[in-house]
Amino acid sequence: MDYVPEKLHSQSATTLTIVAATIGLIITLLTQRLKSTSASVKGNDLVLQNLPPVIPHSVPFLGHAVAFGQDPINFLKTAYDKYGPVFSFTMVGSTFTYLVGSDASALFFNSKNEDLNAEDVYSRLTTPVFGKGVAYDVPNQLFLEQKKIFKTGLNIARFRTHVSLIEDETREYFKAWGHKGERDIFEALSELIILTASRCLHGSEVRDLFTESSKISELYKDLDGGFNQLAWLLPGWLPFPSFLKRDRARLEMEKMFRKVISARRASEPKDDMLQTLIDSTYKNGSHLTDQEIVGMLIGLLMAGQHTSSTTSAWLGFFISRHKHVQEALYEEQKLVCGEAFPPLAYDQLKDMTLLERCIKETLRLRPPLMTVMRMVRSPQTVLGYTIPPGHQICVSPSVNHTLNSTWGESAEEFDPDRFLGVSATTISEKFAYLPFGAGRHRCIGEFFAYVQIKVIWSVLVRTFEFELADGYFPPVNYQTMIHTPTDPVIRYRRRV
Ligand code: HEM
Repeated sequence: MDYVPEKLHSQSATTLTIVAATIGLIITLLTQRLKSTSASVKGNDLVLQNLPPVIPHSVPFLGHAVAFGQDPINFLKTAYDKYGPVFSFTMVGSTFTYLVGSDASALFFNSKNEDLNAEDVYSRLTTPVFGKGVAYDVPNQLFLEQKKIFKTGLNIARFRTHVSLIEDETREYFKAWGHKGERDIFEALSELIILTASRCLHGSEVRDLFTESSKISELYKDLDGGFNQLAWLLPGWLPFPSFLKRDRARLEMEKMFRKVISARRASEPKDDMLQTLIDSTYKNGSHLTDQEIVGMLIGLLMAGQHTSSTTSAWLGFFISRHKHVQEALYEEQKLVCGEAFPPLAYDQLKDMTLLERCIKETLRLRPPLMTVMRMVRSPQTVLGYTIPPGHQICVSPSVNHTLNSTWGESAEEFDPDRFLGVSATTISEKFAYLPFGAGRHRCIGEFFAYVQIKVIWSVLVRTFEFELADGYFPPVNYQTMIHTPTDPVIRYRRRV
């Protein structure tokens, strides 16, 4: 009977996974202990200095992991009310220090990477997905050169061509939605944005792979599945199914991308991001290797995909709850583009000021990255407190974006007009509004993201009327790394 050994095999795999996870947790714990010991040794002279207030906990090792995991924003805001703008707490053996509000956040964004280090906190998550030789796997100076190459590839001439590519993809994708119904809008936008982003940020050959075989979509899902809290907390060599799938998918995807790169090198140059990556050189004159190009292509897709698809989905729910804003957006489309709705043009996007404010406001209330973080490598002083090496220092855009002291009593409400004229002065504080981060790690994809979301929502607003299905406005799903809407089903009716 075949199924018996299979079952046994799966049971032993599960046991192995549990044992491995336990070992991993112990190693993480010991590493953290060692780090904090060395921090107190290195920072001996810090001991008497003013450490930030600590939120006490009664659960060893896990600390506040459960409360934080259930509702991080509420946890942080409650702590802010009680302890002020700088406070520390423990989770899974690590100490996290949050800086809340513009003044405290300044330390985070003005610091040098040698002092507050990004690789130490992000590499474990990103390197197995992107691959070696890029982003947080290399010294920040090199990553800055890679970011500069990305920026060269994301220029206005390219954006002009992106507009029609994204418009075509969106029209084509939503043909399947029929006259009316209820559907998962987040799933739809995620699928669409893989297509638009691969077409604009990679090139037509990679985009065509998504049409030619469903294999790459599966690989993408497996790779993406490795981007989870486990991967962030535990060593990458543990044999978790999601880690194994991620590693296999990356190898397969690398093979496919290498073929595309070789074919492009052997053919006529095109005007797209892949060409920019192939043609660009580092400061020392050397070209990017194929491995680096593969890593940068995967990195671009990952960086731009979830961020834009969550923002787009939340925008849909906000304008379904505020129907008058949705109707005003429809009127804006007619005014800016003409009632016959001819194909969109890049120059029209800047005139869609209400749509722009809706995106801005969505990013304020639902910034895809709820926390940005760094590892403290040298003692840091902020608002009279000293933060020792070994702490993970964090700023939460979600919290800074909804402080009553900055945004007023209506901080939690969706009001795109707060970004109009006088109200905009409320965000004169430098680090109060941070959906794209700030400082040396600031996002390079902001303009592309705006182009992409504006084009997608121009098509959607022209094509459909949306409303909340039986009044359902999704709560935030805190279990995912990027805070997505829970059960994101929306009701729609085709306008034409
Ligand atoms: C709505 C869309 C997006 C949002 C909200 C967003 C948000 C962010 C944030 C908050 C950071 C700072 C991370 C930190 O300080 O730790 C960041 C960095 C970055 N983003 Fe984006 N992003 C978006 C779209 C994109 C797109 C489309 C791309 C690529 C085309 C991209 C590429 C990058 C890169 C390369 C970095 C630099 C990371 C570093 O220097 O450490 N992002 N993004």
